[in-house]
Amino acid sequence: MTDDTLEALQQQIATQHTTEQRITQLFAAEDEGLRHALEAAKVAGLPAIQISPIQGKLLQMLATLCNARKILEIGSLAGYSGIWLARALPADGRLLTLEIDAKHAEVVRNSFARAGVADRTEVRVGKALDILPTLESEAPFDLVFIDADKLPYPQYLEWALRLTRPGSVIVADNCIRGNRLLDPAQVTDETEKAVAEYNKRVAQNPRLESLALAMDDDFTDGFTIAVVRPEERT
Ligand code: SAH
Ligand code: DHB
Ligand code: MG
Repeated sequence: MTDDTLEALQQQIATQHTTEQRITQLFAAEDEGLRHALEAAKVAGLPAIQISPIQGKLLQMLATLCNARKILEIGSLAGYSGIWLARALPADGRLLTLEIDAKHAEVVRNSFARAGVADRTEVRVGKALDILPTLESEAPFDLVFIDADKLPYPQYLEWALRLTRPGSVIVADNCIRGNRLLDPAQVTDETEKAVAEYNKRVAQNPRLESLALAMDDDFTDGFTIAVVRPEERT
């Protein structure tokens, strides 16, 4: 690689960073509640693997768009994505978030209270695949956000389809990972295979209208978003 090519590449990366920063500043600024959730996560020693502010804002907009009153999240961590989602709910709305780690759940509950959304949120502790079959009486959810362990992504999709209605939105994080997850031929790792399978099933399901969007980690990762179609259009 020549020096000129290298310089052009570095310039491109710097531009991407600046673009993301400026979009974040103008459209997805964090309030005190969100900043506190990040700080509490750091103090508790949780990994900083939450979604980005731009992703948070997109989740919030999707929830607003589908008039969400009931939201289901799989994988709470420290409550960062949960706060973005809960902010789109009406006062009598509900966010139910599933978390396997009791220590994480404790941080989440504190952060939800601090962000002023304790009244419309609930953290349920356990393995998501054990809790999901118990949620049928609380369905349908207007939006489901999948962001927990990656191997069960295809199973989480099956549950999301069972627990939603036409017009609901199903979003999953970490569906691109440098484009490997979009082409099954590129995938060898079991975890990556599972997410690639998730993408394939979403893309091919006639009940869903869907798109993967590169928006995180310098446009190398992001959400796959799916809308459950109204019955008459399937
Ligand atoms: N959505 C969060 C990030 C979630 S990180 C945010 O953006 O703010 C993934 C979380 O899923 C971790 O807290 C992890 O403990 C949890 N998790 C992992 N496996 C799980 C499982 N089988 N059931 C429920 N939660 C799980
Ligand atoms: C990991 C998990 C995530 O959900 C994420 O957004 C980033 C990283 C991880 O397990 O490493
Ligand atoms: Mg994630």
